[in-house]
Amino acid sequence: MPKVIAITSEKGGVGKSTLAVHLAGAFAERGLHVVLIDEDGRVGSSLRWAARAAALGTPAPGHSAPRGLDFPVLGPDDIKPKKLADLDVLIIDTEGRPKRKELRQLAGRADLILVPSATSALELDATRELLEFLSDETEAGRKTRVVLTRVPPVGRAGEEAREDLRDLGITVCNTLVRLYSAYQKAAELGTLARDVRDSRAEAAWDDIKQLSRELL
Ligand SMILES: Nc1ncnc2c1ncn2[C@@H]1O[C@H](COP(=O)(O)OP(=O)(O)O)[C@@H](O)[C@H]1O
Ligand SMILES: [Mg+2]
Repeated sequence: MPKVIAITSEKGGVGKSTLAVHLAGAFAERGLHVVLIDEDGRVGSSLRWAARAAALGTPAPGHSAPRGLDFPVLGPDDIKPKKLADLDVLIIDTEGRPKRKELRQLAGRADLILVPSATSALELDATRELLEFLSDETEAGRKTRVVLTRVPPVGRAGEEAREDLRDLGITVCNTLVRLYSAYQKAAELGTLARDVRDSRAEAAWDDIKQLSRELL
């Protein structure tokens, strides 16, 4: 059976879909068989992300087509149980602000719960709150890791947030996913930061590759 990685957070707009799409891309690049499930019914941003490259249509002469995604993005009901067995990794992109009951269910289904969080005081507070609940649930707590994202590339805000959370006993990924516009461009084009024209595209992709190695 595949390793199931669920991505959730207390707040919306923290970078769940960005992380889900890019992690799936990094696993696929390593030759792993990966599927991304989009369970965010309201926005469906991973599904829309995947649809965007196709929707952009044929490029003008002299321009290359956006590369798109080289792994499937499916809706919650599109995955056949038979297909699951062949997978190495299943990534679940969820809607933000899950109800407590939904979180418990997620913990039951996932091997790993990733909680992206930016380093602002507000987001760290929300993340701490979510982690507090999860740590009361022994199974869920064990499976949960925070990943700091949208980390300012300059300064030490990421490192400091990582240490502060760890001091509270929270498991935090070593890798800091930094704030780069390459991710926004990738979302607009329906592709990965790796494949956009941007001077920091490689730096962005390096963060993701490092995180993927840390997780599996
Ligand atoms: N590491 C990052 N660097 C720069 N922008 C980011 C990063 N992660 C996410 N974003 C941007 O933040 C916004 C919200 O991200 P998204 O992944 O859609 O969040 P969520 O799925 O949690 O709602 C998007 O505009 C996205 O491009
Ligand atoms: Mg999303």
